Amino acid sequence: MFQLVYLSFASPKFNNQEDKGLQEILNVANPNNESIGVTGMLLYKGGVFMQLLEGNKNVVLNLFGRIGTDLRHEGIKILVKQEVEGRLFTDWTMGYRKIDNVEIEAISQILPWQEILQMTLNRECVSQEKIMEIFKKFRWELK
Ligand SMILES: Cc1cc2nc3c(=O)[nH]c(=O)nc-3n(C[C@H](O)[C@H](O)[C@H](O)COP(=O)(O)O)c2cc1C
Repeated sequence: MFQLVYLSFASPKFNNQEDKGLQEILNVANPNNESIGVTGMLLYKGGVFMQLLEGNKNVVLNLFGRIGTDLRHEGIKILVKQEVEGRLFTDWTMGYRKIDNVEIEAISQILPWQEILQMTLNRECVSQEKIMEIFKKFRWELK
């Protein structure tokens, strides 16, 4: 089992009615990910995406390659790439959370959201462990 997390920035091509733009992505992602056995979660806040993809390594890398060419986002940076024992998300295809202030608070207890952005922009290393903790936190909240 393989996990990949990336962070990216919505481009002007992303539907600026955010909810519509996100719905368009999820409408394609959910059936597609289910058919290729990929699970994970897409987080979105104010023009920033952070997505976890997990599944067979080649399948995940192949999907990420496709997502990477999507003109609706840019400045893509991989934050986590690792082999793992099992999935974090087993019950659904692509979980989704639009992050609001309450969630920012929750994330910031692990790693300040602003710091994640800053480190990404500065091409510094962000702790893989802490990034995964963020997704774990959302997983437990959703259950
Ligand atoms: C932020 C973001 C996340 C995406 N996540 C997925 C995903 O998890 N699964 C997926 O199939 N497509 C995802 N897409 C859409 C793909 O980039 C692509 O449009 C879609 O897979 C259809 O590809 P096709 O036109 O080559 O069939 C995402 C797009 C963006 C901008």
